[in-house]
Amino acid sequence: MSDTAALATPAPPNRAARIFSGIQPSGGLTLGNYLGALKRFVQKQDEGIQTIYCLVDMHAITVWQDPQKLRHATREAAAGFIASGIDPTKSILFNQSQVSAHVELGWIFNCVARMGWMSRMTQFKDKAGKNSENVSLGLFAYPALMAADILAYRATHVPVGEDQKQHLELCRDIAAKFNNDFGVDFFPIVEPIIEGAATRVMSLRDGTSKMSKSDPSDQSRINLTDDADMISKKIRKAKTDTEPLPETLSGLKNRPEARNLVNIYAALADMTPQGVIDLYSGSLFGQFKPALADLAVAKLAPISKEMQRLMKDPAEIDRILEKGAQEANAIARPVVDQVYDIIGMIRG
Ligand code: AMP
Ligand code: TRP
Repeated sequence: MSDTAALATPAPPNRAARIFSGIQPSGGLTLGNYLGALKRFVQKQDEGIQTIYCLVDMHAITVWQDPQKLRHATREAAAGFIASGIDPTKSILFNQSQVSAHVELGWIFNCVARMGWMSRMTQFKDKAGKNSENVSLGLFAYPALMAADILAYRATHVPVGEDQKQHLELCRDIAAKFNNDFGVDFFPIVEPIIEGAATRVMSLRDGTSKMSKSDPSDQSRINLTDDADMISKKIRKAKTDTEPLPETLSGLKNRPEARNLVNIYAALADMTPQGVIDLYSGSLFGQFKPALADLAVAKLAPISKEMQRLMKDPAEIDRILEKGAQEANAIARPVVDQVYDIIGMIRG
């Protein structure tokens, strides 16, 4: 089987498929991160494609991070990756700040991206809100650094949740503009991989807002560090309605909380949402929630246990990240050196 056989859109000829993705260590990992990103990262790794995964600590500091907490969250996120099935001997796993190619290329892309493009980024608008005069300049430039993360490896495919789609379109625009401005075919036009039943996991308290590590209510999310008891309690208390589950998916149309729980079940069980409906149509939440809670505990509790074990040896996590950073640097350094050459910087 060729490297690209499992991908919907093959890499351009002459370029091997290479996967890159990142997660911010700005708090604990959630079920949204797991289903929208991590679970897919593991699948790609196990398909035998080259996979590079990064804890984007430079992105995290676009909003205030307490230094002690950032260090802890970075190690904990690394533990979460490994406990979820990322094998540091198969994938490259590292934290962004250890590989300076990211910020170097990020600066160059700040000079490629246009203000107008950046101003249209909905995540910036959401995060800045009414406070846009007072947020960091880094928060505005964030998507150019994200493009640099990916393109420093000339990665071709990027698995992400749905909320990152617009940032990946920007990454394509930056690559195309760079290639065009300098008359080269240097950077690939990356393909997002947004697939599966849970590309947008919603809050357990409100089916219209995304499950997020930054939501003030801990009841709104399942953390990868939650133990069996906590996972089960949160699912049983999740907001729902009083109707039974319908016979077809279209019956969930105006029931965002119900739809969310069905999607979570489907993603955890590797089924389609319709498959879940076929199993549970006519059931009330009094039956469905305990079944979902058991499934979630079976899939997630072993991860939180393994994370706890890994976190007992932070020095070992640091060694893994350092080794990953060396491997990442070996790929990214020559790419960024070529970029300096293309744009006309003198190098000794
Ligand atoms: P972040 O935590 O914002 O750094 O996100 C890291 C990855 O997890 C990205 O690919 C996101 O799209 C994905 N992700 C975060 N929250 C969710 C969610 N609620 N549902 C699905 N994917 C998510
Ligand atoms: N912006 C992504 C998020 O918040 C994190 C990220 C940074 C990323 N760099 C990346 C994702 C490169 C994919 C590829 O979720």
